[in-house]
Amino acid sequence: MNAPVTVPIVSLRGVGKSFGPQRVLSDIDLDIRKGEVLSLIGPSGSGKTTLLRCMNFLEAYDEGEVRIRGALLGYRRNAAGALARESERVVAEVRAPVAMVFQQFNLWPHMTVLANVMAPLTLAKGLRADQARAVAGEALARVGMSAKADARPPQLSGGQQQRVGIARALAVGPEVMLLDEPTSALDPELVDEVLEVIKSLSRGGMTMIMVTHEMSFAAEVSDRIVFMEKGRIVTIGTPREVIHAPAHPRIQAFLQPWIRRSLGHPAAGAVA
Ligand SMILES: Nc1ncnc2c1ncn2[C@@H]1O[C@H](COP(=O)(O)OP(=O)(O)OP(=O)(O)O)[C@@H](O)[C@H]1O
Ligand SMILES: [Mg+2]
Repeated sequence: MNAPVTVPIVSLRGVGKSFGPQRVLSDIDLDIRKGEVLSLIGPSGSGKTTLLRCMNFLEAYDEGEVRIRGALLGYRRNAAGALARESERVVAEVRAPVAMVFQQFNLWPHMTVLANVMAPLTLAKGLRADQARAVAGEALARVGMSAKADARPPQLSGGQQQRVGIARALAVGPEVMLLDEPTSALDPELVDEVLEVIKSLSRGGMTMIMVTHEMSFAAEVSDRIVFMEKGRIVTIGTPREVIHAPAHPRIQAFLQPWIRRSLGHPAAGAVA
């Protein structure tokens, strides 16, 4: 008997994207399976954010296919076999299992923490206010932010705001979460509390695709790491293959500053 075939939660085939004349993604093939944590790393401008945004059609890809649970995202095939843009309603349905956590949190400053987390539940999922309040309360508890439910985002630290951002994404019950540098807008001493929340989600089996510059963290939580450059995937592999013992010279060069910092002194790599 063959093993059961599980459909990847997110599947990309030949995905490409240009902004005007500038091609920023080319030939991206990637499958993300349930429970997997995948990190995207690579130099600035390599297309990590654009790739992540194509996975929920915040950005429209213009070549290849993105599928969510097997369903084509953003387009449909017309009778002639050509791709046509899908309606917003269908796009929203297909992307429903995907939730996004933003680098800059994107919380509404004038609304309470609880109202921020409730908003997608009442607006997008059509829950009644009392149902939404209960679900949002649970999500805030999961990120340790129940005590701040009535506060407004400007009264919170950056780390707390990002935990609320994660709660808002969690509340809709996603099958996969996309996180774009979730800690890069934070002061260094606030990074760990957010990484701890992400770690606890991964231990709970949440599927996550994360852009990050936190190499140690990526190595610790990821099942696989994708290294991108110039809009292409250079390598996909385990943390050992990509971060701890990369064979590819380009990745070695990219990681040098991090290795120097982790070893604690600038010439450490050169000592025989
Ligand atoms: N809306 C846009 N319009 C035009 N060009 C864009 C747009 N968004 C991104 N780009 C360009 O696409 C390329 C990839 O950008 P992207 O933001 O995906 O890179 P990144 O890997 O996330 O970089 P960083 O690590 O700095 O966040 C860059 O050259 C960028 O200038
Ligand atoms: Mg980016």
